[in-house]
Amino acid sequence: MTPTLHRRLASLVCAVLLPLGHATPVTPTPLVEDVPFITTPDHVAVAMLEMGGVGAKDHVIDLGSGDGRIVITAAKRFGASGVGVEIVPELVAQSREHARRAGVEARTRFEVQDLFATELAPATVVTMYLLPEVNLALRPRLLALAPGTRIVSHDWDLGDWLPDRTLTLAVPQKTIGLEKTSRLHLWTVPAKVDGLWCAAGGASLRIEQRYQALQATLDDGPERRSYSGRIDGTTLHLLGSGGLAWIASATDEQLRTAPAAGSSAAPTWRRSTGAECP
Ligand SMILES: C[S@@+](CC[C@H](N)C(=O)[O-])C[C@H]1O[C@@H](n2cnc3c(N)ncnc32)[C@H](O)[C@@H]1O
Repeated sequence: MTPTLHRRLASLVCAVLLPLGHATPVTPTPLVEDVPFITTPDHVAVAMLEMGGVGAKDHVIDLGSGDGRIVITAAKRFGASGVGVEIVPELVAQSREHARRAGVEARTRFEVQDLFATELAPATVVTMYLLPEVNLALRPRLLALAPGTRIVSHDWDLGDWLPDRTLTLAVPQKTIGLEKTSRLHLWTVPAKVDGLWCAAGGASLRIEQRYQALQATLDDGPERRSYSGRIDGTTLHLLGSGGLAWIASATDEQLRTAPAAGSSAAPTWRRSTGAECP
């Protein structure tokens, strides 16, 4: 998809949200005609940041940052640093002024920038209030972020990348629509553990991964066992017929099982580049 098409998609964000009753136009400033601005209500912004577990060590990037309130709240209330990217220059100027008044200038930055051209890697938390199509266009880049990075989206999901958690909040100020609610979705970027892992004694663990969901098969001599489970950031939980069988932490090259894990789990597994374990 070209950047221009991305921009056109993104510019529809608020046009779609308006009929859903989220509109809270807070500025009389003339805006770029096809990029109207809609805010996340303050209590919803706080809930998004709480849901993302935002704290003083976090760096929040808000994609399409509007008047800057999510990044400013992240800094003022949660002690985080943050960056807001927004294509409407007047909104960026407003955001900078709001940050100055809130006393969080030093920990926040606002840039006039296309969200599709934004470097996302520094984020520990990404927030967004965009459109379903825009979320989907962003999904490969979100999925490629460091394992453990949290993503919080207001109202729209990420298609078949199912959220870890969804929260529905009352938003009484919604003026249109039958349901006066906002839905918030949280994802934690999973480590990529799909493939074959080998233990020192010759055992193999073959993992099939779909986003956070895992299926695994252990082959250890005559023993063959199947597990299903999940990965939360870098932590795997694999369940066997008797319940929780494995807990392991993942890096790109290694799985390390927790001491409490089942006795059949070797302590360390290395990623195999071949089709079989040696
Ligand atoms: C629904 S508003 C959300 C504002 C803010 N994040 C909030 O939740 O209060 C979406 C914002 O995205 C901005 N936007 C739309 N397309 C964009 C793009 N391609 N790059 C950066 N910002 C964009 C719009 O100008 C608008 O301010």
